[in-house]
Amino acid sequence: MAKITTQKTQEMKEKGEKITMVTAYDYPTAYLVEKACLDMILVGDSLMMAVLGDNSTVACTMDQMIHHIKPVVLGAPNTHIVGDMPFGSYNVSKEQAITNASRMLKEGRCDSIKLEGGREVAETVKAIVDAGVPVMGHIGLTPQTVSKLGGFKIQGKGDAAGDVLKDALALEAAGAYSIVLECIPESLGKLITEKLSIPTIGIGGGRYTDGQVLVFHDMMGLFERFTPKFVKQYINLSPEIVTALETYKEEVKSGAFPEEKHTFK
Ligand code: KIV
Repeated sequence: MAKITTQKTQEMKEKGEKITMVTAYDYPTAYLVEKACLDMILVGDSLMMAVLGDNSTVACTMDQMIHHIKPVVLGAPNTHIVGDMPFGSYNVSKEQAITNASRMLKEGRCDSIKLEGGREVAETVKAIVDAGVPVMGHIGLTPQTVSKLGGFKIQGKGDAAGDVLKDALALEAAGAYSIVLECIPESLGKLITEKLSIPTIGIGGGRYTDGQVLVFHDMMGLFERFTPKFVKQYINLSPEIVTALETYKEEVKSGAFPEEKHTFK
């Protein structure tokens, strides 16, 4: 399987071939995603909530991201890996943004980076792209600034739709190679997808975006705290894992495990 390039994502849009992306934060998950031949993996800062137990993504650091990007790259060497820029790692100055984006590629060894925001980050996106780092945008519901947006809720409704479209156009003009559209009305996802020449990847962006992304732990039933409406749970692993652990406990207590075949002569 050949790793897809940013140019290839563009060709996929032109051919109407949907782009598939999920998150991963460790080696075994990345290995399984590559085995299933998905197009891209996002090492998202959702790491903080899905894996590290926080209730927001805000506290995520560059070092934490790089720590998790490395094993994902090792687990899926032939898959395009996107590293998420954490809150505060690209908003201080263009120099800071370029330095941190470059760290993602140099230390994490991922293929491109993603950052949140629209027109307000367009100049930063241009600077990072000019420095040689491919950038994926992320607009609509942007979890890093969720308190400014009034909570985890749908964005771009009514008059606000025009603002999200302007953000998308600004990111495209700045050189982003694709854009994540999170939690917006389906009609707006369709409109933005039609207006842009770069691919859109939806998460709660409706059926007409050029691709879809889901958080691994949401789709596998491994995150029980909250499941957004846009998530499809493809399997519910949590109860299966609890049952396996209960069985293990019972078998150890009763002496049913280990059996003779598990022992050394
Ligand atoms: O961090 C993440 O997982 C994301 C997705 C929700 C797109 O940004």
